[in-house]
Amino acid sequence: MAKIKTVYVCSACGAQAPKWAGQCGDCGTWNTLSESIDFPSSQAANSRVAGFGDAKDLNRVQNLAEVALDDMQRVPSGLSEFDRVLGGGLVPGSVILLGGDPGIGKSTLLLQTVAALSRHLKTLYVTGEESLQQVSLRSHRLGFTDLQVRMLAATQLESVVTVAQREQPDVIVIDSIQTMFTDQLQSAPGAVAQVRECAAQLVRYAKQTQTVMFLIGHVTKEGVLAGPRILEHMVDTVLYFEGEAGQRYRLIRAVKNRYGAVNELGVFAMTDRGLREVANPSAIFLSQHEQAVPGSVIMVTLEGSRPLLVEVQALVDTSHVNAPKRLAVGFEQNRLAMLLAVLHRHGGIATYDQDVFANVVGGVRVTETGADLPVILAVVSSLKNRCLPQDMVVFGEVGLAGEIRPVPNGQERLSEARKHGYKRALVAAANAPRKNMEDFEIIAVKTLDEALSRIG
Ligand code: TYD
Ligand code: MG
Repeated sequence: MAKIKTVYVCSACGAQAPKWAGQCGDCGTWNTLSESIDFPSSQAANSRVAGFGDAKDLNRVQNLAEVALDDMQRVPSGLSEFDRVLGGGLVPGSVILLGGDPGIGKSTLLLQTVAALSRHLKTLYVTGEESLQQVSLRSHRLGFTDLQVRMLAATQLESVVTVAQREQPDVIVIDSIQTMFTDQLQSAPGAVAQVRECAAQLVRYAKQTQTVMFLIGHVTKEGVLAGPRILEHMVDTVLYFEGEAGQRYRLIRAVKNRYGAVNELGVFAMTDRGLREVANPSAIFLSQHEQAVPGSVIMVTLEGSRPLLVEVQALVDTSHVNAPKRLAVGFEQNRLAMLLAVLHRHGGIATYDQDVFANVVGGVRVTETGADLPVILAVVSSLKNRCLPQDMVVFGEVGLAGEIRPVPNGQERLSEARKHGYKRALVAAANAPRKNMEDFEIIAVKTLDEALSRIG
């Protein structure tokens, strides 16, 4: 095999240099040169691109209409919340990048996934971070015995590909892409050039052999995947693991998906025996009252793009100080003060002699304006010591002129509420669906005054 030449390419202007330098000689930008493999001909360069391996591909031009649709058989991953973010299951030949903070559960999730898949598929788990013993310990902790998952402790890309060619697995997990290195480059594992080159070769392997490839990626402190952004462009699906390492609930969000919608969110709970799916995530943040209580309003918010039902509580109590307290937990404090002013001006309800506390239950943070109307109604409900119907949800933005404005994805929120057994919704008139919803009453309002009169 001819010796592979490497060059240094400027990521800003694309200029090539034979040696590394701090500044690009062409465009003068600093710190942009990174090592890359020098391909002598354009055909070889094409071969770096996923799926374009052979010269004979050049003769295969055809009309789009003639392209036969291989029926894309999706393979369920065994975890339905995971399938949800994947867009319905695994597509053969697809490459999925799973990013997240250290310790959030990436290795656990993928071990659980391959364990489920290994019952009917050939799986290969490549661990570059932990020893085989460590992975085995985890698998015992998860309660797996007699697993048919093939394990390989390796970090050299060439040996991973050789083993994969020999074993011919249907699913490969690379834990993690930052530990992989190729002999063709001199830079250390984890360097941008190494991550990019290894990923490119793994993508090509996956496309040529129709293997499902999972790449685990680390996230830097800034919250982006360590390594070049190009990694996100090369793969088919990018998933992020979110949540606090100390907290129970973990969310998986799809930020890119060539085979499904990106607005999906998978919810898991970390238990002492691995990740457990949360089947009914939109209601996990509700506190369960036996009967209606004053000051409590259920709202539908959008966490990412998945509707979540959360409870807003308010407590209004006579103040004995000159400057009454206004305290908001889970949403913006200034907004609470503003809403109270609107309530006074346009609803005729004064709170200047009252302490007002408002809280979003379950430690959820609501950042969108859809919480305005629920907060106002919770305040009024507490002040008047009158309960709102338990089967009602509320969402809507409140303007300074006392008007109720619509919020995005109204229909989605209404459907979610209905799915969870709610029977009516108090929303902005512009959020009312055009078609009537079966078994679900829409109370559409245009102004705050109207909203207050509708709740009596
Ligand atoms: P891990 O999958 O190793 O995280 P990552 O690969 O993203 O770095 O998860 C590690 C954390 O999960 C660790 O803090 C221990 C915890 N954990 C449990 O709470 N229960 C379990 O059953 C397992 C396997 C891990
Ligand atoms: Mg790990």
